Parts: sequence; C-alpha cells; structure tokens
Amino acid sequence: MSRGRFVVLEGIEGAGKSTHAAFLAGWLRQQGIGVVAAREPGGTALGERLREILLDPEVTGMPPLAELLLMFAARSASLEEVILPALDEGLWVICDRFVDSSYAYQSHGRGVPRKYVEALEEQVLGGLRPDLTILLDTPVRVGLSRKADPQGGDRFERESREFFERVRAGYLERAALGGDGYRLVDASKSLEEVQTDLKDAVRPLVP
Ligand code: TYD
Repeated sequence: MSRGRFVVLEGIEGAGKSTHAAFLAGWLRQQGIGVVAAREPGGTALGERLREILLDPEVTGMPPLAELLLMFAARSASLEEVILPALDEGLWVICDRFVDSSYAYQSHGRGVPRKYVEALEEQVLGGLRPDLTILLDTPVRVGLSRKADPQGGDRFERESREFFERVRAGYLERAALGGDGYRLVDASKSLEEVQTDLKDAVRPLVP
C-alpha cells in the first residue's frame, strides 16, 4: 500500500483554516480518499491538555522558549499517535497548523532564534516534511476582524496587531523560500474562490 499524503493548512487567526480544512477533507473523501484530520496544538490527549495551557489567557509570562517547547511536545505526540500511523495506513492527513506555525509565531512573532526551531524540527520530525503546505494569507486587519472577540480571546488572540504583522511576514517568507512544497492562497477572496484554489492546490497530489 502506498503511503498517504500529508497536507498542512497555515495562516494567521481568522484566515479560515478550520473551515477550509473541513472542506478539503470532505472534498478528498468524495474523491474516494481516506482522510484523517489533525490539528496543532492538540488532537491527542496530551496535546489537548497542552493546548489548554498554551491558549489560557490566565497563563501569563510564559517564556517564548517554553512556548516553543510545549508546541513541539504536542507535535511529538501528534506525530506518534495520529500523523505517522495514518500515513503508514495509506490515509491522507489534513493538519490545521504544523511546524510553520512555530517559525511564524515563536520565531518571527516572539523572537526565538530560528536555529532553535530548526533543531527541534530536525529532532522531532526526523525526515518527515509535509507534501504540501497551503498558506491561507490574509491581511492582519481582515483576519483579526473575523476573530473579534468582546471577551478578549485566547492567549494569542490578545496579542498586538504588530505581533500578527510579524507572524504574517514570517509565513510569507517561509512560503517564498519554500518552493514546490508551498502554495499561497489569498484567503480574503470569497469562500467559493478559496475552495477552488484549494482544490487546484491539492489536485496534483491526487492519484
Ligand atoms: P488555533 O485554534 O489553531 O488557531 P485559530 O485561532 O487560527 O483557529 O490556535 C492555536 C494557536 O496556537 C494560534 O494562535 C497559533 C498558536 N500556535 C503557535 O504559536 N505555534 C505553533 O507551533 C502552533 C501549532 C500554534
């Protein structure tokens, strides 16, 4: 049996990753492909516990390096329990966020040296890389307005506009340098247009 494909959706808050990940999974299933959905941080018992800590606005003063390590702790569990077994079974994995979130948020956003992210990527992932990373790009103003939460939102959603500008710039840099493994999709377009772009992006991977 051939190994499954690993597709990641990335983007800032409000880019529509969760909606589009669900759409993509549904469309692939219609093509007769078995799909497993994953998300980070989360998707395993340990990952969901870590997610609670990572998103909790009452957890203040978390050092950026600790944040990075917790993200990779959740990722390690997700790899072992969800991603690798699914790919080995020939299933596709559609993952809502992956390593590029760590480059964008912890390195570009928080200022953790990139070499730390690279080292963890090497150690935790080994040789595994996504077959395709789709960056749903949207101006920060548009993304944040979609997420506007009168209660203030989670620990990340409370960050400044400047923080998200750095995160977006980090994503765009990764996509520009990443070559064939990346597709940039303009997520400020209509839902239908974005869905068409998503299908076009994954179609070359469909057997
Ligand atoms: P999530 O619910 O996935 O984001 P969204 O609000 O866009 O649906 O929340 C996860 C948060 O964790 C998000 O703010 C980004 C952050 N994050 C990182 O900072 N680094 C990472 O490596 C990952 C996976 C997520």
